[in-house]
Parts: sequence; C-alpha cells; structure tokens
Amino acid sequence: MAAPKEDNLKKIIGHSKEYGFVFQSSEIYDGLSAVYDYGQMGAELKRNIKDYWWTAMVQMNENIVGLDSSIFMHPTTWKASGHVDAFNDPLIDNKDSKKRYRADVLIEDHVEKYRLKIKKEVAKGFKRFGDDFNEEEFLKTNPNVKRNQDKIDDINGRFKTAMDADDLAGIKTLIEDLGIVCPISGSKNWTDVKQFNLMFATEIGSVADSANTIYLRPETAQGIFVNFLNVQKTGRMKIPFGIAQIGKAFRNEIVARQFIFRMREFEQMEMQFFVRPGEEMKWYEHWKEQRINWHKSLGIPQEKYRYHDHIKLAHYANAASDIEFDFPMGFKELEGIHSRTDFDLKQHEEFSGKKLQYFDPEVNKNYVPYVVETSVGLDRTFLAILSSAYTEEKLENGTERTVLKLPAMLAPYKAAVMPLTRKDGLPEKAREILNELKFDFNCQYDEKDSPGKRYRRQDAIGTPFSIMVDHQTLEDNTCLLYTSPSPRDS
Ligand code: GAP
Repeated sequence: MAAPKEDNLKKIIGHSKEYGFVFQSSEIYDGLSAVYDYGQMGAELKRNIKDYWWTAMVQMNENIVGLDSSIFMHPTTWKASGHVDAFNDPLIDNKDSKKRYRADVLIEDHVEKYRLKIKKEVAKGFKRFGDDFNEEEFLKTNPNVKRNQDKIDDINGRFKTAMDADDLAGIKTLIEDLGIVCPISGSKNWTDVKQFNLMFATEIGSVADSANTIYLRPETAQGIFVNFLNVQKTGRMKIPFGIAQIGKAFRNEIVARQFIFRMREFEQMEMQFFVRPGEEMKWYEHWKEQRINWHKSLGIPQEKYRYHDHIKLAHYANAASDIEFDFPMGFKELEGIHSRTDFDLKQHEEFSGKKLQYFDPEVNKNYVPYVVETSVGLDRTFLAILSSAYTEEKLENGTERTVLKLPAMLAPYKAAVMPLTRKDGLPEKAREILNELKFDFNCQYDEKDSPGKRYRRQDAIGTPFSIMVDHQTLEDNTCLLYTSPSPRDS
C-alpha cells in the first residue's frame, strides 16, 4: 500500500538532509523557521533548474533578454506597486500562549477537519463496496458527506465575504463562532484580527529614521518594470518582447511550514512580456501553454499538473491562472501566469514622474505596453522535481533502495566513476577517465565501500550513469556502464 502523502513529505525532508540537498538554516542554533540552505547536492540541482529555465526562456526566444536587478530598490517602488499598502496577511494572536497565527490559516485548518471526515467516509465506502464503489455518486448522495460539505461551503462563503469587505471583525467573529482554539494553549482568548505587511524592512545608511526605510524585495518583477525602458532602448527591443530574471525574494511569512514550499527567503524565476494593448489575451494564452509545456518537459507525469484559473482577479489583472502541482501536501500553486495590463508601468510613471512608453513604428503611436507575467518559484520547482523523483523500491532479495529518478539534465552528477578495487592501478585509471569527463560533465569519483553500496549511493542522489573501471579496462580501455537504478545490488 502506498504511504500517506504527508509521510512522503517527511521522507523527502529526511532524504534531503541525509544526502546534502537541503539543510535547515543555522541548524547548530536550532534553525531559523522557514529559512533553508541548499547543500552540496541541492546547490547543483538548483543551478541546473535555473539553467534549464534560463535556456528555455532567454536562449530559445530571440525576443527575450535577461536582467539581474538589485534586491534593494528605491522605497517609492513599493508604494507604486501597491505592496506598502496592500501586501498583507490577516493575523490574530492568542492572549494566553502569545502565539501569532494567520487568521485565514486557522480557518483553513478548521475546514480541513471536515475534509478529513469526508475522506474517512469515502475510505469506508471503498472498504464496503470494493470495485463497485462509485466515488462520484457517493460524494453527491451520502448524507454524512453532504453535511460536512455544507459546513465547508458555509465557512468558506463567510470567510470570502469578510475578506472581500476587509471586515477584520467579521473574521474574528467567524473564528469565535467556529470555536477555534489555540493549538498551544487550548484557549479561545483571541486578540482582534490585524493586517500584517509581509515585507521585511530595514534601514539604509547609518541613521535609523523612517525616511531611510528600505525593503527587501518581495518579488523580482518590480526590478524588471523599472528597467523596462533601459532594456528596451539599449537592447533595441521591439514589442512584443520579454525580460527574464532569476533572483531572491523575501516575505515575512507567518505560517512557516511545508518545508521549502513556503519560505521567508526564496527564489523566483520571472518573465515580464511587454505587448501591444489589446493583444494581451493572445499572449496570456500563449504563455499559459508554453509554461505548462516547460514543466511537462521535465518528464513528470502530466496528471501531476493542472491549471487553476482565477475567478476573482486582483484589481490590476484582466486574467490570471496558476499552474498547480500535486505536491506531497496536495495540489498547490507552483507558478502564476498573470495578464497585468498596464497597471505597474502606469503606477511607476505616476510615482516617478517619468514616461515609461514605447513608440510603436507599426502603428505610429506611443503607448504604455501591457504585460503578461510568468512567475515560478525556484524552490517550489525544486520540491516538485524532488518529490516526484523520490522512489522507494523493493528488490527481489528483500532489500530496499531509494532511487531519485531525476531527469539526467538536472542530476547533480551526470556520472560516477568508480574503480572496482583500490589497488592494481584501477584508481589511477578511473581518475584518468574522470579527468577527461570533468571538462564537460559534473562527475563524482567514488572508491569507498563495496560496489553495491556505491551504486545505492548514486541511485539515492539521482546520478544517471555509473562507470565501473575493472581489470579489463586496463587491458582494452573498456568499462562497465550502468544506468540508474543500477541492476546490481551487490
Ligand atoms: N510577481 C508575481 C508574484 O510574485 P506570487 O504568486 O506572489 O506572484 C510567484 O509568487 C511564485 O513565487 C509562486 O507561484 C510561488 O512559486 C513562489 N512563491 C511565492 N511565495 C513563496 C514563498 N513564501 N516561498 C516559496 N515560494 C514562493
């Protein structure tokens, strides 16, 4: 029987640590919540994902160029973008435990209990009716399922109404009505709900005064917007064209959980595509398709991806869709594709007093371009790839092995070069091969332990090829080449 999905996440976290993919940040000081370090394997995998994205976006499209803008930006940038006033999460404190929670997450967790009850009913149905069980029909007709679904719909409806109206008191009332208790103190002694801005602020220069407040960017996109004309003019770019960027972003996430899915310091791979007003929907559809195809080209089964088209749109967007991935915690957002109209450029025009317009020779007109954005989290892509690559296999002799079935182009090492024994000149021959390969491929030399153990180690880090140098190699320069997972277990 397959392990529950939550157990899979635990296993992936354990495997990441054991093999040097991801460590908790500042672990020797008991870690820093929602901040992670990428170890020797993780750094390679992450770099390969970045390269794969950059090649697909910049190298393969002659009308897309790259950018590397700074993390610090003029503070007015964030006023113009709306982040100072509206990049908030609703927070609530428990007065007894002094713990702080995201109000929406407390409500979501409460809803999850009803979802679990429905799941249990479905499991019972399966057990009772076996292959004859019709889940769809059961979900529609079973009274227990319907009762729980009604509760979910009612809570979600009340929550949405309160959020849309910015009714923070209404959210508190909902928490009280649902009898939600603090998981630490067990009490219902809640403060009022407050909006909390997710941007990290610090001071620039030596004087700490509010005029010097500067933010760590919460998205890389604004660096692209403010450089739009610089790149267009110096690169002689013609609309439609795109600017792509990979870089760190920072958000003071209150709910820190689910490993590298939600971090306080993370990386985004974003591309802003500047188009003629009125043509944005064509490009929005184009990029929706291109981006899901990019994900699918990683060799992950198609059913792991789905679109989630937004019904309620942010005020600046006229279309938005998420590409969701079936993570160990369920389907969640991996990438956002947004048609952002001319909102950002117009805001920057207004706040800076500078024109951010393009002269289009084809229509003989100046205009502020419309923007279609693709924004994917690098760390979430890492987690998606890692979780779908992680495989436990039972061998015929009863032993188990863990294999990371990574696409070869993303594997940290492309090959492991191993001498069969540590004598008879085999290590020297193996190093000779390694020294030839290393100019083109990242390879590992491995001579410690039995060949079986070494194959297992390479399987566990996703190395696609193992090259075994034996006595025959000394005679005729041939060697044994295994593809992962290696067929041998000894
Ligand atoms: N410029 C648009 C933008 O930033 P977003 O939906 O807030 O949109 C884009 O973020 C992507 O960044 C998300 O789809 C997700 O993959 C990633 N992301 C956002 N917050 C994150 C976090 N706290 N930790 C890890 N990745 C995050």
